[in-house]
Amino acid sequence: MMSFGFRRGALSWQEVIEDPDVEVVFIAAPNIVHVELVQAAAAAGKAVFCEKPVGGTPATIGQAAEATRQAGVISGVGYNYRWAPLVRYARELIEAGELGEITNYRGRFFSMYGADPLGVLSWRFLVDQAGHGVTTDLMSHSVDLALMLMGPITRVVGTTETFIPERPLAVDGGTHYGRGRPGDPTGTVTNEDYAGMLCEFANAARGTFEASRSIVGPESQMAFDVYGTQGALGWNLEKLNELQLYLTEDELHTGYRTVFGGDRFPYHGNFVPGSANGIGFEDLVVIEDYEFCRSIAAGREHRPGFADAVEWVSVQAALLKSAQSGSWEDVVSLRED
Ligand SMILES: NC(=O)c1ccc[n+]([C@@H]2O[C@H](COP(=O)([O-])OP(=O)(O)OC[C@H]3O[C@@H](n4cnc5c(N)ncnc54)[C@H](O)[C@@H]3O)[C@@H](O)[C@H]2O)c1
Repeated sequence: MMSFGFRRGALSWQEVIEDPDVEVVFIAAPNIVHVELVQAAAAAGKAVFCEKPVGGTPATIGQAAEATRQAGVISGVGYNYRWAPLVRYARELIEAGELGEITNYRGRFFSMYGADPLGVLSWRFLVDQAGHGVTTDLMSHSVDLALMLMGPITRVVGTTETFIPERPLAVDGGTHYGRGRPGDPTGTVTNEDYAGMLCEFANAARGTFEASRSIVGPESQMAFDVYGTQGALGWNLEKLNELQLYLTEDELHTGYRTVFGGDRFPYHGNFVPGSANGIGFEDLVVIEDYEFCRSIAAGREHRPGFADAVEWVSVQAALLKSAQSGSWEDVVSLRED
């Protein structure tokens, strides 16, 4: 532990939360233990940052939000893609009306981590440990970004599927990327590999979303496209330092242009100077942690906080209901404040 630069360590999370020197608790444990840790940290009066999805079901984020609200402590949630400099810039362009009226939005998070049927049955594939599957794990990021860029979603129709129903049992100490061998004992996957959703936004735009953890091809395609009456833009985590931008104002040179990341965009220059010198995934987490600590120092509500996570699970609840009913379902806000 010392070799990582930490001055002190503890063998139990209870010890950390009870320590009077600890003011802020960051939770990055498996989903199943999120709520218990949030409740303990909030009861001890500590600001609490929890990795998404804060539990794994609409009900668990409700419990976590209630615990921090009752305790009056600041909460934060790990929707880290909100902090990508070019995503911030995309938001500026949309808010400034550079794209005109937004007509439609496409969000997707396609990841390969569960594409191999020999990929082990880690906690992510089990409803009693992870909560729901790809809606909780990946579509949460995708819709959270849309809520930031586009505002509320009012109704949805969707579908889910588990394409790989059995996987080799995980061994202790392994990761989500572990592989079994043909003939190994297997167990049943109890949450969804895939989710697709069509939706209506309150601003009248239409949207589509897809998320898959068992797709072959895209490897970490957390991406969105926004289309307006005067322009369009697109961003993809696989090309974190590039924004695709189309503006109708140039009638001669039509087509998307690639805008490279650089120190003229928010946060970027704190990592590397100049233009097209790229930043990485872990830098988004650094920005996220920095902003959470700034919110605490200023004593203000942090965004995204648990209230924002409740906005997403309100959409998730409607999606899961629609996957059962086969019909459009209204998004009913689960926020209680
Ligand atoms: N925001 C993102 O982009 C992002 C990316 C990856 C993971 N996550 C989230 O982070 C969380 C962890 O995911 P992961 O892939 O790192 O999982 P993991 O299983 O690889 O790691 C979890 C860690 O928690 C520890 N742990 C297990 N039980 C614990 C307990 N009771 N108390 C304290 N620690 C415990 C484990 O020893 C392990 O070090 C999940 O909620 C996941 O959704 C978020």
